[in-house]
Amino acid sequence: MLFKGLHILTLALHFITVELLLGGLLVATWLNLYGVMRRQDAAAELRLTAAAALAKRLTVVMTYVINLGVPPLLFAQVLYGRALYTSSVLIGVYWIAVIFLLMACYWLIYQFAAGAEKGKAVWWQGLLAWLLAGAIAKIYVTNMTLMLRPEVWGQMYATTAHGSQLPPHDPTAFPRWLFMVSGGFWVSGIWMIWLAGRRVFEDPVRRYLAANGGRLAVVMLIVQAFVAARVLQAQPQGIRDALAADPLARYAGLAWIGVAVLIGLFGLWAAVKQPINRAAGWIGATLLLVGILGMTVYRDALRDLTLLSKGYDVWQRVVVTNWGVVILFLALFVAGLGVAGWLISVMMKAKTIPEKVM
Ligand code: HEM
Repeated sequence: MLFKGLHILTLALHFITVELLLGGLLVATWLNLYGVMRRQDAAAELRLTAAAALAKRLTVVMTYVINLGVPPLLFAQVLYGRALYTSSVLIGVYWIAVIFLLMACYWLIYQFAAGAEKGKAVWWQGLLAWLLAGAIAKIYVTNMTLMLRPEVWGQMYATTAHGSQLPPHDPTAFPRWLFMVSGGFWVSGIWMIWLAGRRVFEDPVRRYLAANGGRLAVVMLIVQAFVAARVLQAQPQGIRDALAADPLARYAGLAWIGVAVLIGLFGLWAAVKQPINRAAGWIGATLLLVGILGMTVYRDALRDLTLLSKGYDVWQRVVVTNWGVVILFLALFVAGLGVAGWLISVMMKAKTIPEKVM
């Protein structure tokens, strides 16, 4: 139960950062491209400043993607070891390749950010970084879906034991990837509303961020809802029935839909009112956290029910609790959160340096 709770919490945080990265990269890339293509436009400065604002922060987002990816990886290995280790080994070459793709992606983001801050035409670097991040996401999706398919493991291993082949076609994999990628846009919309509350930008930039963030959130939330329906349709009928019958999945799904509606309304409001205060940012951040938590719980139920249908019951693990270690872990976890909170508070109080391009 403890592992499950921590797994879901840390994974939800990882998903938020992944969405910020995937969406933020493409939005910043587009704003940089649009800005340099139409430098004579009155709005060019706004676009380039907004692109630089996102790009600069993506270097920090990446550290969170990685650091918030490690805890759920450890918990997932404890909870689903037999399935996850097997699938990881079967696609070993791709799985290991993540490390190198990640380093290349990170390097490109730094290049992109440095150029964007100078107002240069660096959209191609942003695009390349996004392609690499998208490829990493694809590898994660491939592994997380392969771990649910024990029926193909034997054949894959018999074909080659080198970890160099990809699994046979899985109808759920592409919609799943598309779901994460499309989610990145509305999450970035919320992020832009958050940035609009920062005094480091001039008022027109803040209004631009709020209005466009709001629009992006509304439109892409609708797109993601369609993709979510496709993810569900791709599941076998038995799993869909099990999901409908499972109380936790039902409540999580309902909470997720409810919050998504609120986020849509919030985005609409931001698009019209163009708020440039901190309160709007906090409202968006809270809705985002609750929405992604609901989605993560639902996704978790989908995995558990799929594995259960194949004879793997995650709740049937033999647990021998080492209370000393658990208490030490929780104490360090809370202390770590405290230190992170203190660091953020110091950062918030720091003197602001105006951010402007051109
Ligand atoms: C650019 C970097 C990354 C991207 C784009 C990314 C993307 C994703 C995506 C799309 C998923 C969901 C897969 C699915 O549900 O089918 C995922 C899951 C996951 N990611 Fe990341 N990820 C990145 C880096 C990392 C790193 C560096 C780690 C760990 C060190 C990590 C750990 C995890 C774990 C453990 C899961 C799934 C856990 C579970 O299902 O229980 N990720 N990631």
